[in-house]
Order: sequence, then C-alpha cells, then structure tokens
Amino acid sequence: MNILVTGGSGSVGKYIVDELLAHAHSVGVLDLNPPKQKNVVFHKTDMCILQDVEQAMKGYDAVVHTAGIPHPLNDPAERVFHVNVNGTFNVLESAARNGIKKVVFTSSESTLGFAFMVNRMVPEYIPIDELHPMRPQDPYGLSKVIGEQICRTYSAKYGIRTVCLREPWIWVPEQEQLPFYATLVNEYRNWHKNLWTYVHVYDVARAHRLALEHDLENLHEIFFITARENWTGKESKDLLLQFYPEVQKYAGDYSGASAIISHGKAKRLLGYEPQYSVNDLLKKQ
Ligand SMILES: NC(=O)c1ccc[n+]([C@@H]2O[C@H](COP(=O)([O-])OP(=O)(O)OC[C@H]3O[C@@H](n4cnc5c(N)ncnc54)[C@H](O)[C@@H]3O)[C@@H](O)[C@H]2O)c1
Repeated sequence: MNILVTGGSGSVGKYIVDELLAHAHSVGVLDLNPPKQKNVVFHKTDMCILQDVEQAMKGYDAVVHTAGIPHPLNDPAERVFHVNVNGTFNVLESAARNGIKKVVFTSSESTLGFAFMVNRMVPEYIPIDELHPMRPQDPYGLSKVIGEQICRTYSAKYGIRTVCLREPWIWVPEQEQLPFYATLVNEYRNWHKNLWTYVHVYDVARAHRLALEHDLENLHEIFFITARENWTGKESKDLLLQFYPEVQKYAGDYSGASAIISHGKAKRLLGYEPQYSVNDLLKKQ
C-alpha cells in the first residue's frame, strides 16, 4: 500500500514509518518537520489547514494519523484542543474528499481520564477494556475522545474504515530515556494516575501496521494497545489495593503483574501480541 503517515517525523511516528517500510509499503510523511528516512515523500504541511491536507493526501491508499500534541502539559489548553481536534477533522475530511477508505488514528489511553485527572476517579473494573467509561478532565484526553468520534462519524457517512489505537505511555529505546525509566520503578508511588501502564514503541508500530493490513468486520473499531505487564514488576492487585482500594470488580482470571488496561480485544481481532517488555529497555542501559 501507499500510506501517508501524519506526524511521521515525531518520536512515535518515525517508528511507524520504519515498520511500514520494512513490510514493503511505500510511505509519505505529512509533518511540519522532515522525516529521518530518505526513502519517503515529505509533505511539509500544517494539518490545521484543510486545503493543504487535502492536497497532500492525493494518491495515497490509506492514512495513519499520528500527528498531534502528545499531552496537555506544555501547551495552552486551547492549542492542544485546536491542533488535535481540527487536525483530526481535516485528516478525515481530506480522506473523504480523496476517496481514501482506511484511516488508522493514534488515539490514547487518556480518553479514560486517569492520566491527567485533577479530581480523583477510580477504575470501574479491572482489567479496563474498551467498554470502560471515558471521563477526561483535560483538553488532551478530550481531544482524543472527539478524535475518535470524528472517525466514527466519517465511517458512518463515507464507509471509511477507521481504527483508533489507544496507547498508554509509549516507551522508546532511545539511550537518553533509559535512566529515566529505571528511576520510575523506584518512584512507582508517584505514578498511580498512569495506572503503571506502558507499551514499547516497537509494539505500537506493529499494531499500526496490523490495523492497516486487517479489514475488520466493523467499519469503526477502537483498541487498547498495551504491554503485557505493568512497568513496576509488582503484583497489579497489590498496587490497586494500595492506591485504588475502592475497586471491587476484578476479572476471575486477573493475576500477577498483568497490565491494568487489557489488549485482549486487539489480540482477538488484530492478532496483536506485545513482544517487548520493560526489561528489554532496562537491560539496554
Ligand atoms: N508519546 C506517548 O507516550 C503517546 C501515548 C499515547 C498516544 N500518543 C499519541 O501519539 C502521537 C505521536 O506522539 P509523539 O509522542 O510522537 O509526539 P511528537 O510530538 O514527538 O510527534 C508529533 C508529530 O506531529 C507533528 N505535528 C504537530 N502538529 C502538527 C501540525 N499542525 N501539522 C503537522 N504535523 C504536526 C510534529 O511535528 C511531530 O513530528 C500523538 O497523537 C499522541 O497523542 C503518544
């Protein structure tokens, strides 16, 4: 396939581009900054300008929409909302105008609301899956909820296949990040809002390719893409009892250090299985 990757120059997008190139797809990158790869077409385009996105998308078979502001902490709320929501609208509207029938959207576990909550909430049940309520209290999580709804709307109106992949914190194998990851394990008490959930960027890249290559029964689908285990090495139930003692409902087979957010649906429908763990990153130090 000939695939346009928005945000293909970013810290996650560049791995998605590598994965697609490694599997014989041809790739274009729509971004404000140039990609690291030489064998891709670069469209220097602001996704907030609809006409430019529509133009850049001509001739592609499918789109991976990864561009965006990746958290609410460094930018004013209105900018996070504007870039993420209008950018996603422009990508889907341009796909419709160009007759493109497949869009994979890099959403986020922040749709749930825990990561950036100001007022305390607790999970309804463990493990969390795609049926769990979404209750974001911040502009980033809100922008991803709306982004998913934009995908749903364009599937309904135009028959575009849309797949939204909700990742938690994406850990990357860059050398300068590794000491930070190692310190987190000791500071796990400070990270309860993250539900100690992560995923390796190689698994994220593969999940995007699987979502592109599978034609699912439903035109619109949402999946959590998580690692197999939490990143602390501790029992998940012990962590939850300590930090979220109100949680009552656990799946009967929930045990060990299993991730608090399940990738079970992605395993069933996409054949996604995480292949990397926190140990693969920490042992590289
Ligand atoms: N990093 C994580 O832990 C994480 C977790 C879950 C979801 N995500 C999602 O993954 C995606 C990529 O995140 P990242 O960590 O690689 O962020 P990043 O900032 O490294 O990359 C984002 C890319 O989008 C591009 N971009 C931003 N605004 C643009 C615009 N107006 N027009 C065109 N391009 C624009 C940037 O130039 C950059 O290359 C985001 O949508 C983010 O919400 C990230």
